[in-house]
Amino acid sequence: MKHVLSYLKPHTWALTRTMIVKFMGSMMDLFIPFILAIIIDDVVPQRQPHLVYLWGGGMALCAGLSVTFNIMANRMAAVTSGKVTLKLRHDLFKKLGELSMAQFDSISLSSAVSRLTTDTYNINQFLNRTQRIGVRAPILLIGGLILTSILDARLTLVLALTLPVIALIVFVVTKKSVPLYDRQQQVLDSMVRVMQENIVGVRVIKALGKTRYEQQRFDDVNKNLAEVGRKAGSVVAASNPLSSLTLNLGLAVVVLVGAYTVNSGLSRPGSIIAFLNYFTIISGAMMGITRIFIMSSKGIASARRIEEVLQMEADQPQLPAHKQQTPWHIAFEDVSFSYNGVENNISNITFRLKQGQTLGIIGATGSGKTTLTNLLLRLYDVTSGTIYIDGQDIRSLDPVTLSDQTGIAFQSDFIMAATIRDNVAYFRDISDEDIWQALRTAQAEEFVRATADGLLHQVESRGNNLSGGQKQRLLIARALANKPRLLILDDASSALDYRTDAALRRDLSQQHQNTTSIIIAQRVSSIKGADQILVLEDGRAIGQGTHDELMRTCDTYRDIAQVQMGARQADVPEQEVG
Ligand SMILES: Nc1ncnc2c1ncn2[C@@H]1O[C@H](COP(=O)(O)OP(=O)(O)OP(=O)(O)O)[C@@H](O)[C@H]1O
Ligand SMILES: [Mg+2]
Repeated sequence: MKHVLSYLKPHTWALTRTMIVKFMGSMMDLFIPFILAIIIDDVVPQRQPHLVYLWGGGMALCAGLSVTFNIMANRMAAVTSGKVTLKLRHDLFKKLGELSMAQFDSISLSSAVSRLTTDTYNINQFLNRTQRIGVRAPILLIGGLILTSILDARLTLVLALTLPVIALIVFVVTKKSVPLYDRQQQVLDSMVRVMQENIVGVRVIKALGKTRYEQQRFDDVNKNLAEVGRKAGSVVAASNPLSSLTLNLGLAVVVLVGAYTVNSGLSRPGSIIAFLNYFTIISGAMMGITRIFIMSSKGIASARRIEEVLQMEADQPQLPAHKQQTPWHIAFEDVSFSYNGVENNISNITFRLKQGQTLGIIGATGSGKTTLTNLLLRLYDVTSGTIYIDGQDIRSLDPVTLSDQTGIAFQSDFIMAATIRDNVAYFRDISDEDIWQALRTAQAEEFVRATADGLLHQVESRGNNLSGGQKQRLLIARALANKPRLLILDDASSALDYRTDAALRRDLSQQHQNTTSIIIAQRVSSIKGADQILVLEDGRAIGQGTHDELMRTCDTYRDIAQVQMGARQADVPEQEVG
Protein backbone atom coordinates (compact mmCIF):
# COMPACT_ATOMS: atom_id res chain seq x y z
CA MET A 1 0.00 0.00 0.00
CA LYS A 2 2.93 2.30 0.79
CA HIS A 3 3.98 2.65 -2.83
CA VAL A 4 0.46 3.44 -3.99
CA LEU A 5 0.01 5.93 -1.16
CA SER A 6 3.18 7.72 -2.24
CA TYR A 7 1.19 8.81 -5.29
CA LEU A 8 -0.70 11.14 -2.96
CA LYS A 9 2.43 13.15 -2.13
CA PRO A 10 2.17 15.68 -4.97
CA HIS A 11 -1.40 16.34 -3.88
CA THR A 12 -0.64 17.15 -0.25
CA TRP A 13 -1.95 20.69 -0.57
CA ALA A 14 -5.15 19.60 -2.34
CA LEU A 15 -5.68 16.93 0.30
CA THR A 16 -5.19 19.45 3.08
CA ARG A 17 -7.72 21.79 1.50
CA THR A 18 -10.24 18.98 1.13
CA MET A 19 -9.71 18.04 4.76
CA ILE A 20 -10.20 21.60 5.96
CA VAL A 21 -13.41 22.05 3.97
CA LYS A 22 -14.67 18.64 5.06
CA PHE A 23 -13.79 19.51 8.64
CA MET A 24 -15.82 22.70 8.45
CA GLY A 25 -18.78 20.86 6.90
CA SER A 26 -18.68 18.24 9.64
CA MET A 27 -18.46 20.87 12.38
CA MET A 28 -21.62 22.48 11.02
CA ASP A 29 -23.37 19.13 11.34
CA LEU A 30 -22.20 18.86 14.91
CA PHE A 31 -23.50 22.29 15.88
CA ILE A 32 -27.07 21.60 14.80
CA PRO A 33 -28.20 19.32 17.70
CA PHE A 34 -26.32 21.51 20.18
CA ILE A 35 -28.30 24.55 19.03
CA LEU A 36 -31.46 22.46 19.24
CA ALA A 37 -30.74 21.65 22.88
CA ILE A 38 -30.18 25.34 23.64
CA ILE A 39 -33.44 26.29 21.92
CA ILE A 40 -35.47 23.69 23.84
CA ASP A 41 -33.88 24.11 27.25
CA ASP A 42 -32.95 27.80 27.36
CA VAL A 43 -34.64 29.83 24.61
CA VAL A 44 -38.20 28.42 24.56
CA PRO A 45 -38.74 28.88 28.34
CA GLN A 46 -38.04 32.64 27.86
CA ARG A 47 -41.18 32.84 25.64
CA GLN A 48 -39.61 35.38 23.25
CA PRO A 49 -40.39 34.40 19.61
CA HIS A 50 -37.66 36.57 18.06
CA LEU A 51 -35.01 34.66 20.02
CA VAL A 52 -36.43 31.38 18.76
CA TYR A 53 -36.29 32.72 15.18
CA LEU A 54 -32.74 33.92 15.72
CA TRP A 55 -31.48 30.58 17.01
CA GLY A 56 -33.60 28.74 14.43
CA GLY A 57 -31.97 30.91 11.75
CA GLY A 58 -28.58 29.92 13.16
CA MET A 59 -29.54 26.28 12.83
CA ALA A 60 -30.65 26.79 9.21
CA LEU A 61 -27.39 28.59 8.43
CA CYS A 62 -25.39 25.66 9.84
CA ALA A 63 -27.42 23.24 7.73
CA GLY A 64 -26.85 25.36 4.59
CA LEU A 65 -23.13 25.67 5.22
CA SER A 66 -22.87 21.97 5.95
CA VAL A 67 -24.37 21.08 2.56
CA THR A 68 -22.16 23.60 0.75
CA PHE A 69 -18.92 22.55 2.41
CA ASN A 70 -19.66 18.86 1.99
CA ILE A 71 -20.43 19.19 -1.71
CA MET A 72 -17.27 21.23 -2.22
CA ALA A 73 -15.13 18.73 -0.34
CA ASN A 74 -16.63 15.74 -2.16
CA ARG A 75 -15.88 17.37 -5.48
CA MET A 76 -12.31 18.12 -4.47
CA ALA A 77 -11.89 14.54 -3.27
CA ALA A 78 -13.14 13.19 -6.60
CA VAL A 79 -10.70 15.42 -8.49
CA THR A 80 -7.69 14.37 -6.41
CA SER A 81 -8.45 10.65 -6.50
CA GLY A 82 -9.11 10.95 -10.23
CA LYS A 83 -5.69 12.51 -10.76
CA VAL A 84 -3.96 9.88 -8.63
CA THR A 85 -5.71 7.05 -10.49
CA LEU A 86 -4.78 8.59 -13.82
CA LYS A 87 -1.11 8.66 -12.90
CA LEU A 88 -1.23 5.21 -11.35
CA ARG A 89 -2.83 3.71 -14.45
CA HIS A 90 -0.30 5.53 -16.64
CA ASP A 91 2.63 4.17 -14.65
CA LEU A 92 1.16 0.68 -14.51
CA PHE A 93 0.63 0.60 -18.27
CA LYS A 94 4.11 1.95 -18.86
CA LYS A 95 5.64 -0.59 -16.53
CA LEU A 96 3.73 -3.44 -18.15
CA GLY A 97 5.22 -2.33 -21.45
CA GLU A 98 8.72 -2.32 -20.00
CA LEU A 99 8.54 -5.76 -18.42
CA SER A 100 10.50 -8.53 -20.03
CA MET A 101 8.42 -11.21 -21.72
CA ALA A 102 9.32 -13.61 -18.91
CA GLN A 103 7.94 -11.17 -16.34
CA PHE A 104 4.88 -10.54 -18.45
CA ASP A 105 4.30 -14.30 -18.77
CA SER A 106 4.44 -14.55 -14.98
CA ILE A 107 1.67 -11.98 -14.59
CA SER A 108 -0.43 -13.19 -17.54
CA LEU A 109 -2.30 -11.00 -19.95
CA SER A 110 -5.69 -11.37 -18.27
CA SER A 111 -4.33 -10.38 -14.90
CA ALA A 112 -2.61 -7.38 -16.47
CA VAL A 113 -5.97 -6.31 -17.88
CA SER A 114 -7.82 -6.60 -14.59
CA ARG A 115 -5.00 -4.88 -12.71
CA LEU A 116 -5.27 -1.99 -15.14
CA THR A 117 -9.05 -1.80 -14.87
CA THR A 118 -10.74 -3.12 -11.71
CA ASP A 119 -7.76 -2.80 -9.41
CA THR A 120 -7.10 0.81 -10.31
CA TYR A 121 -10.85 1.43 -9.99
CA ASN A 122 -10.79 -0.03 -6.47
CA ILE A 123 -7.93 2.27 -5.56
CA ASN A 124 -9.84 5.20 -6.97
CA GLN A 125 -12.89 4.34 -4.87
CA PHE A 126 -10.75 3.79 -1.81
CA LEU A 127 -8.99 7.15 -2.12
CA ASN A 128 -12.19 8.97 -2.90
CA ARG A 129 -14.17 7.51 0.02
CA THR A 130 -11.29 7.84 2.46
CA GLN A 131 -11.03 11.54 1.77
CA ARG A 132 -14.74 11.95 2.31
CA ILE A 133 -15.81 9.56 5.05
CA GLY A 134 -12.30 9.13 6.38
CA VAL A 135 -12.22 12.75 7.52
CA ARG A 136 -15.86 13.23 8.30
CA ALA A 137 -16.46 10.09 10.36
CA PRO A 138 -13.68 10.61 12.95
CA ILE A 139 -14.63 14.28 13.34
CA LEU A 140 -18.28 13.40 13.90
CA LEU A 141 -17.26 10.64 16.27
CA ILE A 142 -14.83 12.61 18.38
CA GLY A 143 -16.70 15.92 18.13
CA GLY A 144 -19.94 14.12 18.95
CA LEU A 145 -18.40 12.53 22.01
CA ILE A 146 -17.00 15.86 23.22
CA LEU A 147 -20.30 17.70 22.73
CA THR A 148 -22.36 14.92 24.33
CA SER A 149 -20.05 14.89 27.31
CA ILE A 150 -20.66 18.62 27.69
CA LEU A 151 -24.39 17.95 27.53
CA ASP A 152 -24.41 14.92 29.79
CA ALA A 153 -21.28 13.12 30.94
CA ARG A 154 -23.07 10.13 32.41
CA LEU A 155 -24.96 9.30 29.26
CA THR A 156 -21.83 9.75 27.19
CA LEU A 157 -20.20 7.06 29.27
CA VAL A 158 -22.89 4.57 28.19
CA LEU A 159 -22.29 5.57 24.59
CA ALA A 160 -18.52 5.29 24.92
CA LEU A 161 -18.77 1.77 26.34
CA THR A 162 -20.32 0.48 23.11
CA LEU A 163 -17.46 1.75 20.95
CA PRO A 164 -14.74 -0.83 21.82
CA VAL A 165 -17.20 -3.61 20.98
CA ILE A 166 -17.77 -2.06 17.56
CA ALA A 167 -14.03 -1.55 17.06
CA LEU A 168 -13.51 -5.25 17.73
CA ILE A 169 -16.19 -6.21 15.18
CA VAL A 170 -14.59 -3.97 12.55
CA PHE A 171 -11.15 -5.39 13.24
CA VAL A 172 -12.25 -9.01 12.87
CA VAL A 173 -14.26 -8.31 9.73
CA THR A 174 -11.39 -6.46 8.05
CA LYS A 175 -8.91 -9.18 8.89
CA LYS A 176 -11.17 -11.81 7.38
CA SER A 177 -12.19 -9.87 4.30
CA VAL A 178 -8.77 -8.86 2.91
CA PRO A 179 -7.83 -12.40 1.75
CA LEU A 180 -11.33 -12.87 0.37
CA TYR A 181 -11.04 -9.75 -1.75
CA ASP A 182 -7.62 -10.93 -2.87
CA ARG A 183 -9.23 -14.15 -4.02
CA GLN A 184 -12.04 -12.23 -5.70
CA GLN A 185 -9.55 -10.34 -7.85
CA GLN A 186 -7.85 -13.60 -8.85
CA VAL A 187 -11.13 -15.11 -9.96
CA LEU A 188 -11.81 -11.92 -11.86
CA ASP A 189 -8.52 -12.52 -13.69
CA SER A 190 -9.74 -15.92 -14.86
CA MET A 191 -13.02 -14.41 -15.96
CA VAL A 192 -11.16 -11.83 -18.04
CA ARG A 193 -9.11 -14.68 -19.52
CA VAL A 194 -12.16 -16.68 -20.53
CA MET A 195 -13.73 -13.58 -22.04
CA GLN A 196 -10.57 -12.75 -23.94
CA GLU A 197 -10.23 -16.24 -25.32
CA ASN A 198 -13.85 -16.12 -26.38
CA ILE A 199 -13.50 -12.85 -28.18
CA VAL A 200 -10.26 -13.82 -29.90
CA GLY A 201 -11.43 -17.33 -30.69
CA VAL A 202 -14.96 -16.52 -31.71
CA ARG A 203 -14.55 -17.98 -35.19
CA VAL A 204 -13.13 -21.28 -34.00
CA ILE A 205 -15.75 -21.54 -31.30
CA LYS A 206 -18.54 -20.99 -33.79
CA ALA A 207 -16.99 -23.22 -36.42
CA LEU A 208 -16.58 -26.10 -33.98
CA GLY A 209 -20.05 -25.52 -32.54
CA LYS A 210 -18.55 -24.97 -29.10
CA THR A 211 -20.68 -21.95 -28.22
CA ARG A 212 -22.63 -23.91 -25.63
CA TYR A 213 -19.43 -25.33 -24.16
CA GLU A 214 -17.92 -21.85 -23.92
CA GLN A 215 -21.09 -20.54 -22.33
CA GLN A 216 -20.76 -23.28 -19.74
CA ARG A 217 -17.11 -22.36 -19.17
CA PHE A 218 -18.05 -18.73 -18.75
CA ASP A 219 -20.94 -19.63 -16.44
CA ASP A 220 -18.58 -21.66 -14.27
CA VAL A 221 -16.11 -18.86 -13.77
CA ASN A 222 -18.95 -16.36 -13.44
CA LYS A 223 -20.54 -18.49 -10.70
CA ASN A 224 -17.17 -18.84 -9.05
CA LEU A 225 -16.79 -15.07 -9.03
CA ALA A 226 -20.28 -14.63 -7.62
CA GLU A 227 -19.51 -17.22 -4.92
CA VAL A 228 -16.29 -15.52 -3.82
CA GLY A 229 -18.11 -12.19 -3.92
CA ARG A 230 -20.90 -13.70 -1.80
CA LYS A 231 -18.41 -15.03 0.75
CA ALA A 232 -16.59 -11.72 1.03
CA GLY A 233 -19.93 -9.94 1.10
CA SER A 234 -21.34 -12.14 3.85
CA VAL A 235 -18.31 -11.58 6.07
CA VAL A 236 -18.61 -7.86 5.50
CA ALA A 237 -22.40 -7.96 5.73
CA ALA A 238 -22.20 -9.02 9.36
CA SER A 239 -20.29 -5.92 10.36
CA ASN A 240 -22.89 -3.19 9.78
CA PRO A 241 -25.85 -4.94 11.44
CA LEU A 242 -23.67 -6.06 14.36
CA SER A 243 -22.40 -2.52 14.85
CA SER A 244 -25.98 -1.22 14.61
CA LEU A 245 -27.18 -3.77 17.12
CA THR A 246 -24.49 -2.78 19.59
CA LEU A 247 -25.27 0.90 19.10
CA ASN A 248 -29.01 0.38 19.42
CA LEU A 249 -28.55 -1.57 22.63
CA GLY A 250 -26.52 1.37 23.88
CA LEU A 251 -29.27 3.72 22.71
CA ALA A 252 -31.90 1.74 24.63
CA VAL A 253 -29.79 2.07 27.77
CA VAL A 254 -29.38 5.82 27.11
CA VAL A 255 -33.16 6.26 26.79
CA LEU A 256 -33.78 4.36 30.03
CA VAL A 257 -31.08 6.19 31.96
CA GLY A 258 -32.16 9.50 30.34
CA ALA A 259 -35.81 9.01 31.37
CA TYR A 260 -34.68 8.31 34.89
CA THR A 261 -32.36 11.34 35.12
CA VAL A 262 -34.91 13.72 33.60
CA ASN A 263 -37.53 12.49 36.05
CA SER A 264 -35.23 13.03 38.95
CA GLY A 265 -34.29 16.48 37.60
CA LEU A 266 -30.67 15.59 36.88
CA SER A 267 -30.99 16.14 33.09
CA ARG A 268 -32.97 18.50 30.91
CA PRO A 269 -35.26 17.24 28.13
CA GLY A 270 -33.53 19.32 25.41
CA SER A 271 -30.21 17.68 26.25
CA ILE A 272 -31.76 14.25 25.95
CA ILE A 273 -33.23 15.08 22.51
CA ALA A 274 -29.89 16.51 21.37
CA PHE A 275 -28.23 13.47 22.82
CA LEU A 276 -30.41 11.15 20.75
CA ASN A 277 -29.50 13.19 17.67
CA TYR A 278 -25.82 12.85 18.45
CA PHE A 279 -26.33 9.19 18.96
CA THR A 280 -27.57 8.92 15.37
CA ILE A 281 -24.64 11.03 14.16
CA ILE A 282 -22.13 8.95 16.09
CA SER A 283 -23.62 5.66 14.94
CA GLY A 284 -23.50 6.98 11.37
CA ALA A 285 -19.85 7.87 11.91
CA MET A 286 -19.12 4.39 13.23
CA MET A 287 -20.79 2.87 10.16
CA GLY A 288 -18.70 5.20 8.03
CA ILE A 289 -15.53 4.02 9.70
CA THR A 290 -16.60 0.40 9.19
CA ARG A 291 -17.18 1.15 5.52
CA ILE A 292 -13.73 2.73 5.28
CA PHE A 293 -12.21 -0.43 6.68
CA ILE A 294 -14.10 -2.55 4.17
CA MET A 295 -13.08 -0.24 1.36
CA SER A 296 -9.52 -0.48 2.55
CA SER A 297 -9.66 -4.31 2.52
CA LYS A 298 -10.44 -4.05 -1.18
CA GLY A 299 -8.01 -1.19 -1.62
CA ILE A 300 -5.16 -3.05 0.07
CA ALA A 301 -5.80 -6.19 -2.00
CA SER A 302 -5.78 -4.14 -5.21
CA ALA A 303 -2.83 -2.00 -4.16
CA ARG A 304 -0.80 -5.16 -3.56
CA ARG A 305 -1.54 -6.41 -7.05
CA ILE A 306 -0.61 -3.10 -8.59
CA GLU A 307 2.54 -2.74 -6.51
CA GLU A 308 3.61 -6.24 -7.45
CA VAL A 309 3.92 -5.00 -11.03
CA LEU A 310 5.23 -1.51 -10.28
CA GLN A 311 8.00 -2.85 -8.08
CA MET A 312 9.24 -5.51 -10.48
CA GLU A 313 12.94 -5.01 -11.00
CA ALA A 314 14.30 -5.07 -14.54
CA ASP A 315 15.48 -8.63 -15.15
CA GLN A 316 17.19 -7.85 -18.43
CA PRO A 317 20.08 -5.63 -17.40
CA GLN A 318 22.06 -3.81 -20.06
CA LEU A 319 25.63 -5.13 -20.21
CA PRO A 320 28.51 -2.76 -20.89
CA ALA A 321 29.11 -2.47 -24.63
CA HIS A 322 32.03 -4.47 -25.94
CA LYS A 323 32.43 -4.91 -29.67
CA GLN A 324 34.62 -7.52 -31.26
CA GLN A 325 35.87 -7.42 -34.82
CA THR A 326 33.97 -10.14 -36.64
CA PRO A 327 32.90 -11.05 -40.15
CA TRP A 328 29.52 -12.20 -38.84
CA HIS A 329 26.36 -10.15 -38.73
CA ILE A 330 24.44 -12.61 -36.57
CA ALA A 331 26.07 -15.29 -34.45
CA PHE A 332 24.53 -17.77 -32.02
CA GLU A 333 27.27 -19.32 -29.91
CA ASP A 334 26.20 -22.45 -28.03
CA VAL A 335 22.89 -20.92 -27.02
CA SER A 336 20.57 -22.72 -24.61
CA PHE A 337 17.34 -21.44 -23.17
CA SER A 338 14.51 -22.55 -20.93
CA TYR A 339 11.17 -20.79 -20.40
CA ASN A 340 10.48 -22.36 -17.03
CA GLY A 341 14.03 -22.86 -15.81
CA VAL A 342 13.49 -26.62 -15.64
CA GLU A 343 13.87 -28.14 -19.07
CA ASN A 344 15.62 -26.58 -22.03
CA ASN A 345 13.48 -25.40 -24.93
CA ILE A 346 16.63 -24.57 -26.91
CA SER A 347 19.85 -26.57 -26.48
CA ASN A 348 23.34 -25.73 -27.69
CA ILE A 349 22.47 -23.91 -30.89
CA THR A 350 25.35 -22.44 -32.85
CA PHE A 351 25.16 -20.71 -36.22
CA ARG A 352 26.78 -17.69 -37.88
CA LEU A 353 25.48 -15.53 -40.69
CA LYS A 354 27.22 -12.87 -42.75
CA GLN A 355 25.41 -9.72 -43.74
CA GLY A 356 23.00 -10.60 -46.54
CA GLN A 357 22.92 -14.33 -45.89
CA THR A 358 19.79 -16.32 -45.27
CA LEU A 359 19.14 -18.89 -42.60
CA GLY A 360 16.21 -21.24 -43.05
CA ILE A 361 14.76 -22.94 -39.99
CA ILE A 362 12.56 -25.98 -40.27
CA GLY A 363 11.26 -28.41 -37.69
CA ALA A 364 8.13 -29.88 -36.17
CA THR A 365 5.74 -27.70 -34.19
CA GLY A 366 7.07 -26.98 -30.73
CA SER A 367 10.66 -27.66 -31.81
CA GLY A 368 11.78 -24.17 -30.78
CA LYS A 369 11.76 -22.17 -34.02
CA THR A 370 9.85 -19.19 -32.67
CA THR A 371 11.82 -19.40 -29.45
CA LEU A 372 15.05 -18.87 -31.41
CA THR A 373 13.69 -15.65 -32.88
CA ASN A 374 12.40 -14.58 -29.45
CA LEU A 375 15.97 -14.88 -28.22
CA LEU A 376 17.39 -13.00 -31.17
CA LEU A 377 14.94 -10.16 -30.50
CA ARG A 378 15.89 -10.33 -26.83
CA LEU A 379 12.28 -10.88 -25.80
CA TYR A 380 13.88 -13.40 -23.45
CA ASP A 381 17.49 -13.66 -22.30
CA VAL A 382 19.49 -16.77 -23.07
CA THR A 383 20.08 -19.21 -20.22
CA SER A 384 23.59 -19.91 -21.44
CA GLY A 385 25.70 -19.11 -24.49
CA THR A 386 25.77 -15.77 -26.29
CA ILE A 387 24.01 -14.13 -29.22
CA TYR A 388 26.06 -11.57 -31.13
CA ILE A 389 24.95 -8.94 -33.59
CA ASP A 390 27.90 -7.35 -35.42
CA GLY A 391 30.20 -8.83 -32.82
CA GLN A 392 28.32 -7.29 -29.92
CA ASP A 393 26.49 -9.31 -27.26
CA ILE A 394 22.81 -8.44 -27.74
CA ARG A 395 22.52 -7.93 -24.00
CA SER A 396 24.72 -4.88 -24.45
CA LEU A 397 22.85 -3.48 -27.44
CA ASP A 398 20.51 -0.54 -27.16
CA PRO A 399 17.01 -2.03 -27.61
CA VAL A 400 16.05 0.81 -29.95
CA THR A 401 19.02 0.14 -32.23
CA LEU A 402 18.03 -3.50 -32.35
CA SER A 403 14.41 -2.81 -33.26
CA ASP A 404 15.30 -0.09 -35.78
CA GLN A 405 17.39 -2.53 -37.76
CA THR A 406 14.96 -5.39 -37.61
CA GLY A 407 11.92 -6.27 -39.63
CA ILE A 408 9.76 -9.05 -38.33
CA ALA A 409 6.58 -10.84 -39.26
CA PHE A 410 5.49 -12.97 -36.34
CA GLN A 411 3.63 -16.20 -36.82
CA SER A 412 0.24 -14.79 -35.92
CA ASP A 413 0.83 -11.10 -35.80
CA PHE A 414 -1.82 -8.52 -35.13
CA ILE A 415 -3.46 -6.24 -37.61
CA MET A 416 -5.08 -3.08 -36.34
CA ALA A 417 -8.35 -1.51 -37.32
CA ALA A 418 -6.65 1.17 -39.41
CA THR A 419 -5.69 1.92 -43.00
CA ILE A 420 -3.34 -0.31 -44.95
CA ARG A 421 -0.82 2.51 -44.78
CA ASP A 422 -0.90 2.65 -40.99
CA ASN A 423 -0.76 -1.11 -40.70
CA VAL A 424 2.38 -1.26 -42.83
CA ALA A 425 4.10 1.87 -41.51
CA TYR A 426 3.08 1.08 -37.95
CA PHE A 427 3.84 4.52 -36.48
CA ARG A 428 7.26 4.66 -38.11
CA ASP A 429 8.29 7.47 -40.37
CA ILE A 430 8.08 5.74 -43.74
CA SER A 431 7.30 7.34 -47.09
CA ASP A 432 4.44 6.20 -49.35
CA GLU A 433 7.01 5.22 -51.93
CA ASP A 434 8.75 2.86 -49.51
CA ILE A 435 5.42 1.45 -48.45
CA TRP A 436 4.48 0.67 -52.05
CA GLN A 437 7.89 -0.90 -52.54
CA ALA A 438 7.41 -3.08 -49.46
CA LEU A 439 3.93 -4.06 -50.64
CA ARG A 440 5.37 -4.92 -54.08
CA THR A 441 8.06 -7.18 -52.64
CA ALA A 442 5.52 -8.76 -50.29
CA GLN A 443 3.33 -9.53 -53.34
CA ALA A 444 0.59 -7.38 -51.86
CA GLU A 445 0.62 -4.51 -54.36
CA GLU A 446 -1.99 -6.03 -56.62
CA PHE A 447 -4.68 -6.55 -54.03
CA VAL A 448 -4.05 -3.16 -52.42
CA ARG A 449 -4.37 -1.43 -55.80
CA ALA A 450 -7.58 -3.37 -56.40
CA THR A 451 -9.24 -1.73 -53.38
CA ALA A 452 -11.05 1.54 -53.95
CA ASP A 453 -8.82 3.60 -51.62
CA GLY A 454 -5.42 1.95 -52.05
CA LEU A 455 -3.16 2.72 -49.10
CA LEU A 456 -6.06 4.39 -47.33
CA HIS A 457 -8.19 1.27 -47.51
CA GLN A 458 -9.59 0.58 -44.06
CA VAL A 459 -8.67 -2.78 -42.58
CA GLU A 460 -10.85 -4.22 -39.83
CA SER A 461 -9.48 -5.24 -36.45
CA ARG A 462 -7.50 -8.49 -36.72
CA GLY A 463 -7.70 -8.11 -40.47
CA ASN A 464 -11.15 -9.66 -40.49
CA ASN A 465 -11.95 -8.30 -43.94
CA LEU A 466 -8.79 -9.80 -45.47
CA SER A 467 -8.00 -13.34 -46.53
CA GLY A 468 -5.36 -15.30 -44.65
CA GLY A 469 -2.83 -14.82 -47.47
CA GLN A 470 -3.60 -11.10 -47.76
CA LYS A 471 -3.01 -10.69 -44.04
CA GLN A 472 0.32 -12.49 -44.26
CA ARG A 473 1.45 -10.36 -47.17
CA LEU A 474 0.52 -7.20 -45.28
CA LEU A 475 2.57 -8.40 -42.32
CA ILE A 476 5.53 -9.18 -44.56
CA ALA A 477 5.23 -5.68 -46.05
CA ARG A 478 5.31 -4.29 -42.51
CA ALA A 479 8.50 -6.24 -41.86
CA LEU A 480 10.09 -4.91 -45.04
CA ALA A 481 8.92 -1.32 -44.89
CA ASN A 482 11.81 0.05 -42.82
CA LYS A 483 14.36 -1.63 -45.13
CA PRO A 484 15.72 -3.74 -42.30
CA ARG A 485 19.24 -5.10 -42.02
CA LEU A 486 17.81 -8.15 -40.34
CA LEU A 487 14.58 -9.72 -41.50
CA ILE A 488 12.76 -12.41 -39.58
CA LEU A 489 9.82 -14.18 -41.15
CA ASP A 490 8.24 -16.68 -38.77
CA ASP A 491 6.03 -18.95 -40.82
CA ALA A 492 5.03 -15.79 -42.63
CA SER A 493 4.25 -17.27 -45.98
CA SER A 494 2.43 -20.43 -44.96
CA ALA A 495 -0.88 -19.20 -46.36
CA LEU A 496 0.59 -18.20 -49.72
CA ASP A 497 0.21 -20.45 -52.73
CA TYR A 498 3.45 -21.90 -54.10
CA ARG A 499 3.63 -19.45 -56.98
CA THR A 500 3.21 -16.36 -54.81
CA ASP A 501 5.64 -17.78 -52.25
CA ALA A 502 8.25 -18.29 -54.97
CA ALA A 503 7.68 -14.77 -56.33
CA LEU A 504 8.13 -13.43 -52.81
CA ARG A 505 11.44 -15.24 -52.41
CA ARG A 506 12.65 -14.01 -55.80
CA ASP A 507 11.78 -10.37 -55.02
CA LEU A 508 13.23 -10.60 -51.54
CA SER A 509 16.58 -11.78 -52.86
CA GLN A 510 16.58 -9.08 -55.54
CA GLN A 511 15.38 -6.14 -53.46
CA HIS A 512 17.03 -6.99 -50.17
CA GLN A 513 20.38 -8.38 -51.13
CA ASN A 514 22.08 -6.93 -48.09
CA THR A 515 19.43 -8.00 -45.64
CA THR A 516 20.28 -10.92 -43.43
CA SER A 517 17.18 -13.09 -43.31
CA ILE A 518 15.93 -15.73 -40.96
CA ILE A 519 13.10 -17.61 -42.58
CA ILE A 520 11.09 -20.07 -40.55
CA ALA A 521 8.96 -22.32 -42.69
CA GLN A 522 7.18 -25.62 -42.73
CA ARG A 523 7.77 -25.97 -46.47
CA VAL A 524 11.13 -27.08 -47.73
CA SER A 525 10.51 -25.07 -50.91
CA SER A 526 10.47 -21.85 -48.86
CA ILE A 527 13.96 -22.34 -47.48
CA LYS A 528 15.82 -24.61 -49.82
CA GLY A 529 17.68 -21.72 -51.42
CA ALA A 530 18.97 -20.50 -48.04
CA ASP A 531 22.71 -20.24 -47.38
CA GLN A 532 22.23 -22.34 -44.32
CA ILE A 533 19.36 -24.43 -43.00
CA LEU A 534 18.82 -25.42 -39.39
CA VAL A 535 16.71 -28.51 -38.72
CA LEU A 536 15.32 -28.35 -35.19
CA GLU A 537 13.93 -31.13 -33.05
CA ASP A 538 13.06 -30.55 -29.38
CA GLY A 539 15.23 -27.46 -29.34
CA ARG A 540 18.31 -29.23 -30.74
CA ALA A 541 19.90 -28.83 -34.14
CA ILE A 542 19.64 -32.28 -35.67
CA GLY A 543 20.85 -31.01 -39.00
CA GLN A 544 22.69 -27.95 -40.24
CA GLY A 545 23.95 -27.06 -43.70
CA THR A 546 22.74 -26.26 -47.18
CA HIS A 547 19.82 -28.04 -48.78
CA ASP A 548 22.10 -30.34 -50.73
CA GLU A 549 24.20 -31.18 -47.68
CA LEU A 550 21.14 -31.90 -45.59
CA MET A 551 19.65 -34.11 -48.28
CA ARG A 552 22.73 -36.26 -47.85
CA THR A 553 23.31 -36.01 -44.11
CA CYS A 554 20.00 -35.44 -42.32
CA ASP A 555 17.41 -38.20 -42.45
CA THR A 556 14.65 -36.08 -40.99
CA TYR A 557 15.22 -33.30 -43.52
CA ARG A 558 15.31 -35.75 -46.38
CA ASP A 559 12.07 -37.32 -45.20
CA ILE A 560 10.34 -33.94 -44.99
CA ALA A 561 11.64 -32.95 -48.41
CA GLN A 562 10.60 -36.20 -50.02
CA VAL A 563 7.14 -36.17 -48.49
CA GLN A 564 6.57 -32.58 -49.55
CA MET A 565 8.11 -32.47 -52.97
CA GLY A 566 8.57 -36.06 -54.08
CA ALA A 567 12.08 -37.49 -54.23
CA ARG A 568 12.81 -36.27 -57.73
CA GLN A 569 11.50 -32.72 -57.36
CA ALA A 570 13.38 -32.20 -54.09
CA ASP A 571 16.61 -32.05 -55.99
CA VAL A 572 15.41 -29.59 -58.59
CA PRO A 573 17.24 -26.27 -58.32
CA GLU A 574 15.38 -23.40 -56.66
CA GLN A 575 14.41 -21.40 -59.78
CA GLU A 576 12.54 -24.27 -61.33
CA VAL A 577 10.34 -25.00 -58.32
CA GLY A 578 8.45 -21.71 -58.34
N1 LIG B 1 5.92 -18.27 -23.44
C1 LIG B 1 6.21 -19.57 -23.25
N2 LIG B 1 6.28 -20.06 -21.99
C2 LIG B 1 6.59 -21.35 -21.78
N3 LIG B 1 6.83 -22.23 -22.74
C3 LIG B 1 6.76 -21.82 -24.02
C4 LIG B 1 6.46 -20.46 -24.33
N4 LIG B 1 6.48 -20.33 -25.67
C5 LIG B 1 6.78 -21.55 -26.17
N5 LIG B 1 6.97 -22.44 -25.19
C6 LIG B 1 7.36 -23.86 -25.33
O1 LIG B 1 8.63 -23.90 -26.00
C7 LIG B 1 8.66 -24.91 -26.95
C8 LIG B 1 9.07 -24.34 -28.29
O2 LIG B 1 8.04 -23.46 -28.72
P1 LIG B 1 8.15 -22.62 -30.06
O3 LIG B 1 7.05 -21.65 -30.06
O4 LIG B 1 9.53 -22.11 -30.19
O5 LIG B 1 7.91 -23.75 -31.15
P2 LIG B 1 7.87 -23.59 -32.73
O6 LIG B 1 8.95 -24.46 -33.24
O7 LIG B 1 7.86 -22.18 -33.12
O8 LIG B 1 6.48 -24.28 -33.07
P3 LIG B 1 5.41 -23.90 -34.21
O9 LIG B 1 5.91 -24.49 -35.48
O10 LIG B 1 4.19 -24.59 -33.75
O11 LIG B 1 5.30 -22.45 -34.25
C9 LIG B 1 7.30 -25.57 -26.94
O12 LIG B 1 7.39 -26.76 -26.20
C10 LIG B 1 6.41 -24.58 -26.24
O13 LIG B 1 5.44 -25.26 -25.49
MG1 LIG C 1 6.47 -20.94 -33.92
